Amino acid sequence: MQKEEFFHRTELAKRLSQTLMSADGSSGLFITGPRRTGKSTFIREDFIPAIGGPQGSHIVYVDLWADQDANPGDAIVAVIRSELLKFDSFILRAAKGVGIDKIKVGGMEMSLNQVGFGQGETLTTALTMLAIASKKSVVLIIDEAQHTQVTEEGRKALFALKAARDAMNATNGPGFRLFATGSNSDKLVSLVEDKDQAFYQAPLIVLPHLGDDYLVWLRERLPVDPRPSIDALKRAFTACNYRPEPLRAVLREIGLDFDLHPNEVDARFEAMMAASLTRTKSHFFQQVNGLNPLESAVLKTMASQGKNFAPYTKDAFSSYKAFILANTGEVAQDINQSSVQMALERLRSNKFIWRAGRGAYLIEDSQHLDWLGEALVQAQADVARARTELQARASKVVPTNF
Ligand SMILES: Nc1ncnc2c1ncn2[C@@H]1O[C@H](COP(=O)(O)OP(=O)(O)O)[C@@H](O)[C@H]1O
Ligand SMILES: [Mg+2]
Repeated sequence: MQKEEFFHRTELAKRLSQTLMSADGSSGLFITGPRRTGKSTFIREDFIPAIGGPQGSHIVYVDLWADQDANPGDAIVAVIRSELLKFDSFILRAAKGVGIDKIKVGGMEMSLNQVGFGQGETLTTALTMLAIASKKSVVLIIDEAQHTQVTEEGRKALFALKAARDAMNATNGPGFRLFATGSNSDKLVSLVEDKDQAFYQAPLIVLPHLGDDYLVWLRERLPVDPRPSIDALKRAFTACNYRPEPLRAVLREIGLDFDLHPNEVDARFEAMMAASLTRTKSHFFQQVNGLNPLESAVLKTMASQGKNFAPYTKDAFSSYKAFILANTGEVAQDINQSSVQMALERLRSNKFIWRAGRGAYLIEDSQHLDWLGEALVQAQADVARARTELQARASKVVPTNF
């Protein structure tokens, strides 16, 4: 079996690791890039080798996307604990079978069960012990860090990490760096821009998407003959928002077309790519059409109001009603706080939207947001008409029966 090959971005990894280890990186570094564009691959294949390795730092990596049902705080604690367990010689195993594993290093001693956020400075102690045991500075990489905002424990985790950062970066400290990624810049930006966030004002960098050099690399390896031109690949890659997977799927498909003429390969490839994107998009709209009228109206209101969306305002309610009237021809009577709350919850559990704690909501996937935006432009006239009709109804004097 052939192993999956990756295109390496060594120079980018070197630059980012230098930034992280510089004084500027001491408050932490946050990088964003849309979902499925290669953040985790870059971290695993290029960034960790650049910053870890024999001369580098001790890396602790946790992907909060991998198990979304796990509590982000628990996931971070679990990975720190398992890193400590790698240093077997420092672990004092208690009496056979029972008891707690204790770890003892550099005059410090703690039980592994104590690693957590609630009890004073145990996280600082655990990370400091890890630095002493490994004789290296510690770099914690949190992939999809926006998930920390979903729960109170997750938010606490960030504050505990901030305390650890400050203690470990003090003059005699062993050194600690936090590197975090997120697939939605709006979600991540609140982590560094809100004054009450642990990592307020830490630098936020957009990870460059895979570029033309990736396409050249990919084209060279294509087991397809004839091959699409590099220009056709560029257009297709832009059309799928720089995500390798949809591009590769169409390349696999064209590889099975055995009587392709060199003159027609580009046209054929681009037609297949367009058809594939249309299928993905119509699949999304099928799901939207399967929502009930209020859910669909809430989703569209979010798409049209963006960051200003607040679910329970008068403005939001009149927008829900306008979308429902435009969609179904009926005037909704029974919209209230609890029905809106239920709609939001359904949208969240079906992964249409994301809740950033404290009542802030965002559309999960930026691609969905673009598609909804296009659909809203098309439906603009209908929605405007619905709004006018609702206003006219509201201002009409209600007839009274004497
Ligand atoms: N440098 C690369 N070379 C080859 N394939 C890549 C590269 N980066 C990403 N991919 C492919 O793109 C897909 C999504 O990548 P991933 O790293 O999971 O994205 P993200 O973490 O941004 O969601 C994976 O199937 C992966 O194999
Ligand atoms: Mg990822």
